Amino acid sequence: MTGKIRRLPEHLVNKIAAGEVVERPASAVKELVENALDADARAVSVDLRDGGAALIRVTDDGHGMTAGDLELALERHATSKLAADEDLDAIATLGFRGEALPAICAVSEFEITSCPRGVERGTSSPPFVQSMEATRIAGAGGVITQRLQLPGPAGTSIEVANLFYNTPARLKFIKSAATELATSLRTLTHLAVAHPDVRFRVTNNGRALLTAPVARDLRDRIGALWHHDVAARLLAVDRTEHGIRVSGLAGPPDLHRGSREDVVVVVNGRPVRDPALLQAVLAAYRPTLPRDRFPLVALLISMPFVDVDVNVHPTKAWVRFRHARLVQEMVMAALGETLRQRTVVPTATPPSRAEMPGTGLPPASEEMVAQDALFAEPTATYGRAELGRVLGQVQDTFVVAASDREVFFVDQHAAHERVLYERLQAALNEGAPVSQELLFPEPLELAPAAQALLERWRALLERLGFAFEGFGGHTVVLRAVPALLKGDEPRRLIEAAVDDLSGPRGGEPVLDRVLSFVACRAAIKANTVLTGEEMERLVAELSATTVPYFCPHGRPTMSRISMSDVRREVKRVW
Ligand SMILES: Nc1ncnc2c1ncn2[C@@H]1O[C@H](COP(=O)(O)OP(=O)(O)OP(=O)(O)O)[C@@H](O)[C@H]1O
Ligand SMILES: [Mg+2]
Repeated sequence: MTGKIRRLPEHLVNKIAAGEVVERPASAVKELVENALDADARAVSVDLRDGGAALIRVTDDGHGMTAGDLELALERHATSKLAADEDLDAIATLGFRGEALPAICAVSEFEITSCPRGVERGTSSPPFVQSMEATRIAGAGGVITQRLQLPGPAGTSIEVANLFYNTPARLKFIKSAATELATSLRTLTHLAVAHPDVRFRVTNNGRALLTAPVARDLRDRIGALWHHDVAARLLAVDRTEHGIRVSGLAGPPDLHRGSREDVVVVVNGRPVRDPALLQAVLAAYRPTLPRDRFPLVALLISMPFVDVDVNVHPTKAWVRFRHARLVQEMVMAALGETLRQRTVVPTATPPSRAEMPGTGLPPASEEMVAQDALFAEPTATYGRAELGRVLGQVQDTFVVAASDREVFFVDQHAAHERVLYERLQAALNEGAPVSQELLFPEPLELAPAAQALLERWRALLERLGFAFEGFGGHTVVLRAVPALLKGDEPRRLIEAAVDDLSGPRGGEPVLDRVLSFVACRAAIKANTVLTGEEMERLVAELSATTVPYFCPHGRPTMSRISMSDVRREVKRVW
């Protein structure tokens, strides 16, 4: 008896895959424009008919494809973007699965014309002789019906007509042309925010809807997208800590909209939809924005590629962060810093409760967004953790504090590290942290590698209060240390510094590493008994930091239990 299982033919596999990758015209637009950006295009044009349902044409001046590559591009799992297995762990391109083109072509009538850069008309032959270097492939339902060589400009042009013509079930789900168009425009706007150096032009039924020339910077680009008057009012955001940079533009609190559409978050060049990050943005604005209003924000987050997993969702709109909470904290801190710099009319009772995304805290209470709070000085709120009353210490390592809503177990070492780190940072901004001359300068005999490392980091170490002498010979003399570390045995201290700085924490800014080394070294250790007063001071100082929930190494400073969980638990038991 023959089995009942048979392998699906390639075109059917593609059609099935298309269901995941291409939900609607806007997803095809997104994939095609991402391909253009990955191909290093300087200019991308998108022409739609009926919001993309009838036709999508994306034309770019990117590096193009040869005839052979074009054939391959239409095969499933064929990509130029992943060469080795490891590449999947650190994706730097927008695409990587080799699925979009075959999926789109499986459910449409398509025509692709491409010409590799450098061989286009006129470069390999006299201008009056047209070389036939461009390739055109056309077909429908994933089947190629036409192949053609022709002259053409460098780059790629893809036409996708009658999307879902052969998948009636999916076709039914296409919304009105206006809705599809709006979705495509939102996607395109976000991609344009992420790539200010690329020119974008979008039309629908021949009417120009979005024109963004190559921009000098983000503000310039935002001006083209959201209007220059708006762009001029946006505040600059820029904060870098432990290898994560959060930069971009943020609207002042009195500039707001009725939808969250103008909150754009871009991670390593990719616009992402991340509910927790959106919450972090909203939390930063919460005390100053009216209810149901949303800010205008374009945030660019950059971090090592290995710390973001983009391979978690078929349309690649969602990503997963290795240190999700840290990224949220960074977003709040960066926005908080920017918003704080503005002088806002203070009132008698500034709101004092900080909201953390994803901590189970209920949303801001009514009074926080009440009329007077709208104009409140927000300084006190950003990032300030409400840790409540200190109850005591457990295991000589955790300080226990409780507010009405939560109980906190604050790791005394990590918390102190955070406090010292920010204090050092502030001292650096104002000049230099206090340095302590050694009574007896300490000659250090170092291994050549250690000496080289120290020499390389010397300037930074000296900015933080170290002082060295006599580089070049066999011994280096340590003359001074940061005052915070004056109790440390000098030789051990330098050994630890060399050890720490040579460790594998690449990608993190050097200054951050030195700062966190000093903070960590000077911080109270675990298994140390603290007096009540010391605990109070530590908790108060921690609450006042910009990033109270993480130590400079990115580890949480505390564990927390919500009282509502406790109550629920107790009820269940009884
Ligand atoms: N506009 C373009 N210009 C140049 N090459 C392109 C273009 N579009 C597609 N390609 C080539 O075709 C390949 C397949 O494209 P496709 O979008 O299917 O996959 P991908 O971009 O590699 O991954 P993903 O499925 O995640 O988008 C790409 O890897 C790229 O080499
Ligand atoms: Mg792609």
